[in-house]
Amino acid sequence: MKAAFTTGYGGPEKIEYAEDLPKPQLADEDHVMIKVAAASLNPIDGVRNRGYLRFLVSDKHPHIFGYDVAGVVEDAGPKADGFSVGDRVYSRIPLGPQGTVAEYVSVKGEFVSLAPSNVSLSDASSFPLVGLAVVQAFRAGNLKNGQTIFISKGAGGVGTFAIQLAKHVYGCHVITTATEDKAQLLRDLGADVVIDYTKVNFRQVVKNVDFSFDVSNEPYAHAAITKRGGYVVALRGIPSPEAIHDTFNYEVPFVLAKALKVVNVTAYAIRRLYGVQYHAFSGRPSGADLAEIKEYIEKGQIKPVIDTMFDIRNARQAMEKVEGGHSTGKVVVRVDTSVDM
Ligand SMILES: NC(=O)c1ccc[n+]([C@@H]2O[C@H](COP(=O)([O-])OP(=O)(O)OC[C@H]3O[C@@H](n4cnc5c(N)ncnc54)[C@H](OP(=O)(O)O)[C@@H]3O)[C@@H](O)[C@H]2O)c1
Repeated sequence: MKAAFTTGYGGPEKIEYAEDLPKPQLADEDHVMIKVAAASLNPIDGVRNRGYLRFLVSDKHPHIFGYDVAGVVEDAGPKADGFSVGDRVYSRIPLGPQGTVAEYVSVKGEFVSLAPSNVSLSDASSFPLVGLAVVQAFRAGNLKNGQTIFISKGAGGVGTFAIQLAKHVYGCHVITTATEDKAQLLRDLGADVVIDYTKVNFRQVVKNVDFSFDVSNEPYAHAAITKRGGYVVALRGIPSPEAIHDTFNYEVPFVLAKALKVVNVTAYAIRRLYGVQYHAFSGRPSGADLAEIKEYIEKGQIKPVIDTMFDIRNARQAMEKVEGGHSTGKVVVRVDTSVDM
């Protein structure tokens, strides 16, 4: 089968493309085999490719990378309830041996949902990882309708999804950060206030928000702008052992768990200093949550924001684009346009 893969730990220079990789088997009776139309990339792909997750998972090379996928069900195991051959689906796969930038991937049915019917599968592949992280983070921080939310890094894959969810589903007052050239796009998506982070430090001008979504790894600045009793939910920072367990289904060894707790003084310090709740958070795979996101997309509340679509042969350039850190929305790798409906 066609796939893009890394030949060893390292940057995009380690990425190659071939058409003669072995097609995977349906991994279990509760799995579906997805014929992949497209896979979107995320910063975590670069992190894993460079070997920084080696303490959680050790990759065998060649390693096919990628977490996000949209495609068509080619085969469904007898226990993959609710899926039939030919269904259009999307998924964010869990940490495992094979990723999604390939012609086929076998995924446990509970992590898969029917894809939104009003967008192409290439567009659908842009949503899962960022969408799940945002939906689950808003829940973790108890976001309520009509609250004021601050979202840093508004123009990235996470930010563009978060602005739309906060505005069009939660009816929030949305404050975010981006350069001037990206501000109008973010206003169109639903931002009420866009702060140019290259000219103004948001900490100087934002006050008393109910919920602060830390996408830029600035925990103390986010805490400082949050009202007492409010929530800071951080997508970066050091996750707790419990978050690692939930996300990766991996029991953190005792010594490492202790070390993480000691290093994770941020949450403790922030609670003490600012009187706000602080969660370092990681999104989890979930077909049920993807089904919820599908509804938002079909109602037109959330639209895809895609920086660039690359052909799978150019997966290396796609990864360079993601690691460059300046993408507006998502980077998508198109695998098979013949199934992209
Ligand atoms: N824990 C989780 O579950 C989870 C899930 C998804 C993502 N994440 C993390 O969340 C972060 C965001 O991911 P992403 O997918 O949105 O992509 P990203 O590549 O981090 O975002 C790129 C965008 O952010 C803008 N940007 C860069 N620095 C900024 C700053 N200081 N202030 C405001 N905007 C800034 C860039 O615009 P310019 O450079 O042009 O200004 C670009 O538009 C990453 O660190 C990622 O690893 C975590």
